[in-house]
Amino acid sequence: MTPHRPIIYLNNAATSWPKPPEVLEAVNRCLALPPFGSGRTTGTEGEDYITLARERVSRLLGAGPPEHVVFTQNATDSLNLLIQGFIAQNGDGCHVLTTALEHNSVLRPLRELERQGRIRLTVLPFEDGAVSPGSVEGALAPDTRLMVMTHASNVLGSVQDVRAIGRVLHDHGVSFIVDGAQAAGHVSVDLRDPSIDAYAFTGHKALFGIPGTGGFWIRDPETVAPVRFGGTGSSSCSLLHPREMPERFEAGTHNYPGLAALAAGVEFVRTTGPEAIAAKAERQAAFIIGEVTQEPNVVVYNDRPAIPIIAFNIQGMEHEDVGFILARAYGIVSRTGIHCAPLVHRAIDGGNGCVRLSLSWFTTDDECRSAARAVREIAAHAHSQVGPA
Ligand SMILES: Cc1ncc(COP(=O)(O)O)c(C=O)c1O
Repeated sequence: MTPHRPIIYLNNAATSWPKPPEVLEAVNRCLALPPFGSGRTTGTEGEDYITLARERVSRLLGAGPPEHVVFTQNATDSLNLLIQGFIAQNGDGCHVLTTALEHNSVLRPLRELERQGRIRLTVLPFEDGAVSPGSVEGALAPDTRLMVMTHASNVLGSVQDVRAIGRVLHDHGVSFIVDGAQAAGHVSVDLRDPSIDAYAFTGHKALFGIPGTGGFWIRDPETVAPVRFGGTGSSSCSLLHPREMPERFEAGTHNYPGLAALAAGVEFVRTTGPEAIAAKAERQAAFIIGEVTQEPNVVVYNDRPAIPIIAFNIQGMEHEDVGFILARAYGIVSRTGIHCAPLVHRAIDGGNGCVRLSLSWFTTDDECRSAARAVREIAAHAHSQVGPA
């Protein structure tokens, strides 16, 4: 259903919208044709969307070889497979590092392992949106085996120096899993640098795919045990799951319309240019922040985001009410609350949550002006309601 009035969609950090026309065409084309899955039918005319998607993701991330790109349902699924598979491979009882910037898709799998008594977990604080390599080094213990951290915060839009942190970890023989759910598509990623061991991504955010797609890239598959087994369309006589890549981590029928969309979305990002995407995002976010902070009662929690996220509150108002007014009175879609990142909110707003505006390549300058104006009007009205002290 088409929205009955124009909306300004500023919830792209949750799921990007609109999608490039090529993405919609790819899904339609894929579903309109018979499914000739490579190795699984006698039909040969079909396009191999899965291989295409693997090659394109691998190229965008500077990651080789393409078979080391594994497809999953989303970033959460990828992080679960990587974290649980790492502990299954390396044994219980080790020390794991993570950070207070994480999304629950990192925190909850780790906390669950900690609750089961299988790992010891240290959560590193952040300062000014970033976790420093020095604090990582200071937290290492003789039994530290793994660090899991986000590349870009979904609340603060800050990009972490994963390369420097990875070097510290590697010097001490610690493996490094990076959550690229927010970064892939916004930030240039070059996995040729040896500091990262595995990189999780999602399809439906800045890569412009559709929900239900994602994956991870892994440098050395032997470091992570597979925890999912089943049909692969290969080595089918064997009752054991193949150990070759990418089948090692993939079981069952792929979401191939979703992977056709992902292949198209990744190509869109590549041809648009990650640098152009990043430059526009930074400019537009800085514009909105510059505007809304002219109101004395607007508190912005991230003054220089590298990816286009603005996290704020209006003093004296609940974030849900601000979001409600933005939607109802201005047709602006934001997101309010804790954003699945409880420790970030504990640090920035006492754990209450905030309003988040998140932009995409398709966000226009006009939409940014309208959003800034709307926030300023709501804030000015709230200010005028506060009587003299
Ligand atoms: C930083 C971060 N990690 C992981 C996720 C989970 O992504 P998905 O819902 O695609 O599993 C999100 C989604 O909001 C996120 O922002």
